[in-house]
Amino acid sequence: MTFTQAHLLGIEHLHPSEITALLDLADQYVDLNRQSHKHSDALAGLTQVNMFFENSTRTQASFEIAGKRLGADVMNMAMEASSIKKGETLIDTAMTINAMHPDLLVVRHPHSGAVDLLAQKVNCAVLNAGDGRHEHPTQALLDALTIRRAKGRIHRLSIAICGDIAHSRVARSNIMLLGKMENRIRLIGPPTLMPSQINEFGCEVFEDMREGLKDVDVVMMLRLQKERMDGGFIPSEREYYHRYGLDGDKLNHAKLDAIVMHPGPMNRGVEIDGDIADDINRSVIQEQVEMGVAVRMAAMDLLARNRRAKQSGVMV
Ligand code: NCD
Repeated sequence: MTFTQAHLLGIEHLHPSEITALLDLADQYVDLNRQSHKHSDALAGLTQVNMFFENSTRTQASFEIAGKRLGADVMNMAMEASSIKKGETLIDTAMTINAMHPDLLVVRHPHSGAVDLLAQKVNCAVLNAGDGRHEHPTQALLDALTIRRAKGRIHRLSIAICGDIAHSRVARSNIMLLGKMENRIRLIGPPTLMPSQINEFGCEVFEDMREGLKDVDVVMMLRLQKERMDGGFIPSEREYYHRYGLDGDKLNHAKLDAIVMHPGPMNRGVEIDGDIADDINRSVIQEQVEMGVAVRMAAMDLLARNRRAKQSGVMV
């Protein structure tokens, strides 16, 4: 057992061997999830609370399913109806939940760094389900598992991440994970959607899709994060689609067996052509969703094991 973390706050803190350990366990959960009886009691007796301060479909649903399949008592807090609306601070809300003795706290928040801060205040294991533009570790892990299963490995691949890199926590976590696993990463997008610290990432940067996609193994598309933009980043969605939307013509520049990924939610006709997204020979978007449940099961299982080991004073 090589996974030693108390929380899953970001990819930044993970060692490559921890990533591999988590993916290996997730592979086992993929098998479990494909059976008619999908239950294990890895989290039996534990309480999992999901606090989503930002909208979510896939991430929240898969964390809930993951917890339930592992036998945890799962509570989804309706943040819209919570006291945050009455002016309570994030930390006060967290401390209130903490007093109810949860074991696992899954948090999504619009502010970068909010989940790290919260983890310092509570006694349970905290999982970051996306904080602002900062990190979205379980998304990068599920992307890695999808790639590893499709390509047979998660190292020495050429991977293009395309579109709105600047506002994307998915891109940041993926750049870190794929870099730690020694892949060649290409970032493709307009200069207005590239982060200012782009040179620190150690990736190749392209403005032209056809040039950037040349001979890549994996094409990872990103949604335009309009909710994090205050205007002026792209001329128009039509123009953006023309230059950066993934269509058959642009995809032809990648390797013949290149896979197409998207974390969802997708804007068809903005960053990706609907036919490409639905092409089961190229697109692994549905597999990504499937892997999301398995990866979240693995993450919560490993954190719960570390917690139990710490509570009983035994090292795993
Ligand atoms: C991503 C997110 O929320 O960061 N979605 C997800 O978790 N599946 C990407 C996005 O919203 O574009």
